[in-house]
Amino acid sequence: MAKTIIEPFRIKSVEPIRWTTRPEREELLQVAHYNLFLLPAEDVLIDLLTDSGTGAMSTNQWAAIMQGDESYAGSKSYDRFRSSIQEIVGYRHVIPTHQGRAAERILFGVVCKKGDVVPNNTHFDTTRANVEFVGAEARDLVIAEGKQPGLIHPFKGNMDVAALEEVIQRVGRERIPLVMLTVTNNSGGGQPVSMENVRAVSAVCRRYKIPLYFDACRFAENAWFIKQREPGYESKTPKQIAQEMFSCGDGCTMSAKKDGMANIGGFLCTNDDLLAQQEKDLLILTEGYPTYGGLAGRDLEAIAVGVQEALEEDYLRYRIASTAYLGNHIAAQGVPIVQPPGGHAIYIDARAFLPHIPADQFPGVALAAELYLEGGIRSVEIGTLMFGAAAKMDLVRLAIPRRVYTQSHIDYVVEVILEVWDQRDKIHGLKLTYEAPFLRHFTAQLEPVEQAVGVRR
Ligand SMILES: Cc1ncc(COP(=O)(O)O)c(C=O)c1O
Repeated sequence: MAKTIIEPFRIKSVEPIRWTTRPEREELLQVAHYNLFLLPAEDVLIDLLTDSGTGAMSTNQWAAIMQGDESYAGSKSYDRFRSSIQEIVGYRHVIPTHQGRAAERILFGVVCKKGDVVPNNTHFDTTRANVEFVGAEARDLVIAEGKQPGLIHPFKGNMDVAALEEVIQRVGRERIPLVMLTVTNNSGGGQPVSMENVRAVSAVCRRYKIPLYFDACRFAENAWFIKQREPGYESKTPKQIAQEMFSCGDGCTMSAKKDGMANIGGFLCTNDDLLAQQEKDLLILTEGYPTYGGLAGRDLEAIAVGVQEALEEDYLRYRIASTAYLGNHIAAQGVPIVQPPGGHAIYIDARAFLPHIPADQFPGVALAAELYLEGGIRSVEIGTLMFGAAAKMDLVRLAIPRRVYTQSHIDYVVEVILEVWDQRDKIHGLKLTYEAPFLRHFTAQLEPVEQAVGVRR
């Protein structure tokens, strides 16, 4: 059989993307105050800002959308949504929400109170914010290997099981309303969690009678990594692996904008009848009736089909290979990245890429700006601008939307990154001219520390 892994689809509908010249991009970047969030999307050639809600839907999803039942209560679309999800997760209650953070807000709003502690491998930023919003503490317990960008380890998203047990003993089980595992671990570089680790965490939780929840945004990508890397799973299907993983827990939150293959949506699942009732009461207050939860019937249909498509082997093989393709090609030329390549994104280590730019001059933002100037590519800084002085790393994330870009798009991205790599010593740092009191990275304004910005040739 041929070794080339191809996109397992043909393209039926296309959306033109627009070239700009470098002088145009220099001006656009200045107007956007060197913050790529402030750029109009039409001025971006390849948009790798996020993989969330940016995927392309399939013909089967579009066909399902036409069957959307928009009844306020008891719609057929909800029945299809619930049974498709239940087949994978096996949980009794499936509560639709408008996206992942709404599921988080409802879950933590119901189970957490001030003084509680929530252990996770690594909390995503909205998850952390929702835990902290109710006065609880979000504690990250990823294994030590998961904190070393250059280190190769098959399951860098694993939770440190000994640390979990220690936290439970120190804090007391009554102050830990749940334990969470984020699969894959987005904030830790899109790194997977092994089934062995899931079982070990689950065993601790069961021993202390603490519910285990999954932040399941990328459950299918995680299942693929288990199939590829964990002995004993080679001949299982991604669906069987996902089913086994969910069977070790008691519920999940999900953003269907990732492995739901949809542009909007999410859900919250639990096996606990009493909890489900309280969650549905809160849902009605802020999201909508429990058979639509803030979504249109057609969104429920797109998700019902999407969660199944995300588990198809041809799709996952291509998905994970195309992310690794980008990472391996730039790493082979010396570009420092978080190793090994994650499922949905490649993370460039901007401190190592630009050692002459100190952290307080935002090397990640400077590098992201340069990738835009050089080739119209939009990425995102995850570092000092996002987390302030608490940032342990300055990374530039290149997130790959699902089923959107072809290999030649990725070849182009590789070429642009390598061009910037060759000229890296000419890149300058940036300084802040405006910052909001919280979540400043979305709206921050910056300017070059020195006049000459960018790679000048
Ligand atoms: C791991 C993880 N959890 C939760 C969320 C929140 O999902 P949403 O953006 O749909 O609110 C995200 C989104 O990027 C995520 O990556």
